[in-house]
Amino acid sequence: MQRTTGITLIFLLVVSLATIGFLGIRLGQDKQEADGSAETSGDQEETAGESGVKSASFQPPSMDDLPEGPHGEVIQHGYDLVNMTSTELRKEAASAEEGEAKVNGLSCASCHAGAGLEKSSMSLVGTTVTYPRYNERADAVMTIEDRINGCMVRSMNGEEFETGDEDLQAIVAYMAYISEGMPEGGELEWKKPVAMKDVPVPDADAGEELFKQSCIACHAADGGGTGEISGPALWGSESFNDGAGLSRHDKMAGFIHDFMPKTDPGSLTEQEASDLAAFILMQDRPEWGGKDKDWPKGGRPNDLIDKEKREQLKNGEVSWEEVVKKEK
Ligand code: HEC
Ligand code: HEC
Repeated sequence: MQRTTGITLIFLLVVSLATIGFLGIRLGQDKQEADGSAETSGDQEETAGESGVKSASFQPPSMDDLPEGPHGEVIQHGYDLVNMTSTELRKEAASAEEGEAKVNGLSCASCHAGAGLEKSSMSLVGTTVTYPRYNERADAVMTIEDRINGCMVRSMNGEEFETGDEDLQAIVAYMAYISEGMPEGGELEWKKPVAMKDVPVPDADAGEELFKQSCIACHAADGGGTGEISGPALWGSESFNDGAGLSRHDKMAGFIHDFMPKTDPGSLTEQEASDLAAFILMQDRPEWGGKDKDWPKGGRPNDLIDKEKREQLKNGEVSWEEVVKKEK
């Protein structure tokens, strides 16, 4: 049984890699054809080359143009779930305790701004056309459902949706809607990885000072936040757990550098963003229970700040210099 699953996964991987490679080449050709005319603006009409593969521009359909009837209602429900995840899922729970077990105080939109409709902040526009796809952390091919569940159990510190769950289907329907017209296997320039490349060695104390100056208005002095989409929790029980992407220092630093503070993104230097990320990740947060299964082939990143790493940093067994250097 397990063996068959393994073989199926390998088969899927080969097929999807081949498809991505093939479409990637076609898209590259299209891009070259369009060069010079369509380079600078991200908002012009999509251009279709002779091959019929479109080069992508950022033009998600509006939530005002939903199809009439049940399909439109499902998409709307998916949007509500992504935009106000905590409120929506806790509302569906039988009791307050069950609600808290289902999901933390965040929303998908706490990280995927505007429910993924904003171009910055890890936009979800175009996501469905890039799945199924290989994931290194799991060493497996993931469907879009698997990937959503990945954020559910780590970033949302919550319970996985079961296959066929109506909420999960609604989220997928919403993501498919905002990905309409995106070229399959295409490179979508707004889907850059969030991680900072050459991370300066941080000073967590300097980060604390900066945090007091620039962040507490929205995220509160205790890091508990002021609301799932106005200023989400950065640490503590309502925040993401230490198996989440943002628990990696390079991703946290990249996120802060590119998208925060919300009122003036891009105003922080890489050093400042690295300092802030170190300060935030030194605070307590929920623990991820599935650590042993991550990176089954090794290669667990050094800058993943879990409880153990935090202790080591506190008592001087490990230095930030060692944490941020890429070669392990
Ligand atoms: C605490 C922040 C955070 C929250 C909350 C969060 N995510 Fe994510 N999500 C991430 C990060 C980080 C990545 C990976 C981005 C990277 O590595 O460049 C990601 C990636 C994804 C991807 C893959 C995107 C792609 O192009 O491959 C999907 C899909 C996704 N998230 C869906 C969701 C959904 C649905 C929710 C709510 C149920 C959610 N996320 C909540 C941080 C978050
Ligand atoms: C004006 C309000 C505001 C300020 C100031 C602000 N943020 Fe945010 N922050 C937000 C909002 C709103 C989000 C949700 C995502 C979005 O809409 O872009 C967010 C999301 C985040 C996230 C990801 C979600 C999470 O819960 O972890 C991090 C990390 C973060 N901010 C860090 C910072 C840091 C560090 C500063 C100070 C340099 C800062 N923010 C300043 C409003 C703010």
